[in-house]
Amino acid sequence: MAARRLEPGGPLRGTLRPPPDKSVSHRAAMIAAMGEGETTIEGYLDAADTRSTLAGVEALGATVTRGEALRIRGAGLRGAVPAAVDVGNAGTLLRLLPGWLAGQETGEWTLDGDDSIRRRPVDRIAAPLRLMGARIEAREGRLPPLRVEGAPLRSIEYELPVASAQVKSCLLFAGLLAEGETRIAEPLPTRDHSERMLAAAGAEVERGEGFVAVRPASRLEPGEIVVPADFSSAAFFVVAALLVPGSDVGLAGVGLNPTRTGLLPILERMGARIEVEQEGERGGEPSGRLRVRACELRGAEVGGEEIPLAIDELPLVALAACFAEGETTIRDAAELRRKESDRIETVSAALRALGAEVETREDGMRIAGAGGLRGGAVDSHGDHRIAMLGAVAGLASREGVEVAGIDAAAVSYPGFEADLASLSRG
Ligand code: S3P
Repeated sequence: MAARRLEPGGPLRGTLRPPPDKSVSHRAAMIAAMGEGETTIEGYLDAADTRSTLAGVEALGATVTRGEALRIRGAGLRGAVPAAVDVGNAGTLLRLLPGWLAGQETGEWTLDGDDSIRRRPVDRIAAPLRLMGARIEAREGRLPPLRVEGAPLRSIEYELPVASAQVKSCLLFAGLLAEGETRIAEPLPTRDHSERMLAAAGAEVERGEGFVAVRPASRLEPGEIVVPADFSSAAFFVVAALLVPGSDVGLAGVGLNPTRTGLLPILERMGARIEVEQEGERGGEPSGRLRVRACELRGAEVGGEEIPLAIDELPLVALAACFAEGETTIRDAAELRRKESDRIETVSAALRALGAEVETREDGMRIAGAGGLRGGAVDSHGDHRIAMLGAVAGLASREGVEVAGIDAAAVSYPGFEADLASLSRG
């Protein structure tokens, strides 16, 4: 486990393109594997999580050719071959793949991963898949390893008990192989990359107020998929630029799908003025440029329907809140406890260790804005987003931060430290 000390320094300056989107890359590899013929993926993320996905789809019978663009020859919608899949740290792979596998005519699969993955609940996908007729077993009924056996599936109408794009996507995949129309109601809108990509690959996807429906498909033909830069990775620099005085940072090619950019209105409520310039839409996903300049922030109330739209960025909201004037409350975010770490606890522990006053709640936290952070030491707990949060906190702190386990950043962003350093050099 590598440790790194980040010292407070001068302003962050310059423009960079963050790495490709992790969510879109996972889906691109899986949908290409489900497809017929060859799919070209431009800008596939090269990081630990998305390498797990490539190894996974190869084990299932797809052929992957790595080059400037990635080429994947699909196994076909009904052609997944039996395998033991190691999902590593990738929750999205763990939760989406069973939707495809459960509907295969025959075969048996196991999915397992690292220690953190073994703590991620899978009953949220197992329960609705069983309603569709899937044969699926989990350890203690709710944790990986997961065993899936192919079976004929029937369609369902299902109301998601939690707003989860992973569960929704899993059921959309299963719905492609079920008999009849599968209809999924969401309590709140969540990221819609799967819907966009499946529709572009020729699936019959219907979207309406609070629901998405899919009809069985005989084949998928994704053809070409373009992956924008990851808003969730860009978000670390957005907040770093806001917090380090004098900063002025540009971020290029960033995915601006509105189901992902919920951080922006939250920061705007906190007083940030962020310039967003949409540059168009490629492969069904909008992207563009962000320009962020340092400014004073004030506390805010965060909750309700903005939570799923900013779910992976809420740790950064908590960090920004430490630098704000006045209190910030994050509510309705109990799902944070089920991420790569229990992010209500790991974020609060990290911020307290740096001098913040944070109170945890079952569904969120309350942060007393103190106009800054002293500094100290944080542990990533193997969670990539906590590692990067610690690094940003270091640059913005008064005394610097030692981040234990900074290497966890490689799960989504292998070049993170180098990119941060390039902005520090301005
Ligand atoms: C993801 C959905 C979210 C998010 C995760 C990626 C996805 O999880 O936190 O990082 O790619 O679908 P949930 O579906 O559990 O909310």
